[in-house]
Amino acid sequence: MNFKVPRGTQDILPDVSWKWQRVEKIARSICDVYNYKEIRTPIFEQTELFQRTVGDTTDIVQKEMYTFTDRGDRSMTLRPEGTAPVVRSFVEHKMFGYADQPVKLYYTGPMFRYERQQAGRYRQFVQFGVEAIGSDDPAIDAEVIELAMNIYKKTGLSDIKLVLNSLGDKESRDAHREALIAHFSPNIGEFCSDCQNRLEKNPLRILDCKVDREHPLMKTAPSLADYLNEESSAYFEKVKNYLDIAGIEYEYDPNLVRGLDYYNHTAFEIMSTSKGFGAITTLCGGGRYNGLAEEIGGPPAPGIGFALSIERLLLALEAEEKSFTDEPSLDVYIVTLGDAAREKGFEILGKLRENGLRSEMDYMDRKMKAQMKSADRLKAHHVIVIGEDEVNENVVQLKSMADGEQKKVTVDELIGELEK
Ligand code: HAM
Repeated sequence: MNFKVPRGTQDILPDVSWKWQRVEKIARSICDVYNYKEIRTPIFEQTELFQRTVGDTTDIVQKEMYTFTDRGDRSMTLRPEGTAPVVRSFVEHKMFGYADQPVKLYYTGPMFRYERQQAGRYRQFVQFGVEAIGSDDPAIDAEVIELAMNIYKKTGLSDIKLVLNSLGDKESRDAHREALIAHFSPNIGEFCSDCQNRLEKNPLRILDCKVDREHPLMKTAPSLADYLNEESSAYFEKVKNYLDIAGIEYEYDPNLVRGLDYYNHTAFEIMSTSKGFGAITTLCGGGRYNGLAEEIGGPPAPGIGFALSIERLLLALEAEEKSFTDEPSLDVYIVTLGDAAREKGFEILGKLRENGLRSEMDYMDRKMKAQMKSADRLKAHHVIVIGEDEVNENVVQLKSMADGEQKKVTVDELIGELEK
């Protein structure tokens, strides 16, 4: 029997998992600074939640969801994204009643989409996302975008750009929708069957079809920009003004439509511009979703948020040939020679760990030279050597790996000496 990790998923092995931890730590600490609190929701939800919010005509709902019937005959879906579950929780727990609005939340965890596997596209991937729910102040749009940009900056990424668009309000979108129908209708027979279905239901989705993206009518399709009403344009201007105040550069892209139905007004993506990066350059996507809370039975609670994939962030770091400088290391490695020394070493190891010093010793009965090599590989700052003489005298040899200096210290002095 030869088992393999399922297609589109990956094992995060110990030589890489520390990088994941660094990213999560950075993202969490930035959320903390911006006063966002963590929320944890289940990994599966009622299927209908995603159908209603992400949208029936989207690729995610039509082709990519991991949907199953549970033993109680209910249709459940492994979450393909985090916004709908978070807004569901916001409504269910009446967070709209919290004294402090907007409610600012962040989350991280696996998401599931049955997609064609390629570099940077997985069937299980980990998002880090934030949602600010309860305010339609354009300043919060800028705050959310700034927060996302700061996560990338803090990890050391520099080859990134922010792409921005406005999808407008309902009135603007309805006007645009009519224009799209008029544009595509005469030639809809040349498009895939999904697009033919989308024409009446949701023609905007035709624009992000992966099958028909090269069709000439795509390029000449009416732009949402020409259908934004005065209110929507004014809102967009204010968001851009706040981004200017924050010193954040952006590129305006009127064709940025996003692949989920709940968006309106501000929509944005952060892309890698690194030459080493593969074909899929979107690192992060987000936008405003006024009306989503009402869609699932809550009161009006305008919101905005984003989600980034940790996989793609790490790929972008690799493409820029950057890495975290604080690789895992040890404070102390204990080298022992002989049985009595091993016992002494084991006792000391416990004490070191009790004092919070990251420490290790040899459990493979290896020669001194091999133990020293381990200490090197594990990037130990200090090595303690214990032989028969040291056991008899109740001392250890303490060696600093930085300067090679070695001295004899008593076991009682050891912790104090190391903490220096
Ligand atoms: P999304 O654009 O579908 O938006 O996904 C956000 C990010 O998740 C993408 O930019 C990408 O980095 C990552 N991602 C998506 N699919 C995959 C995949 N198959 N493999 C690896 N990474 C992937 C959302 O999910 C929204 N919920 C974002 C949001 C939050 N909008 C408002 N609040």
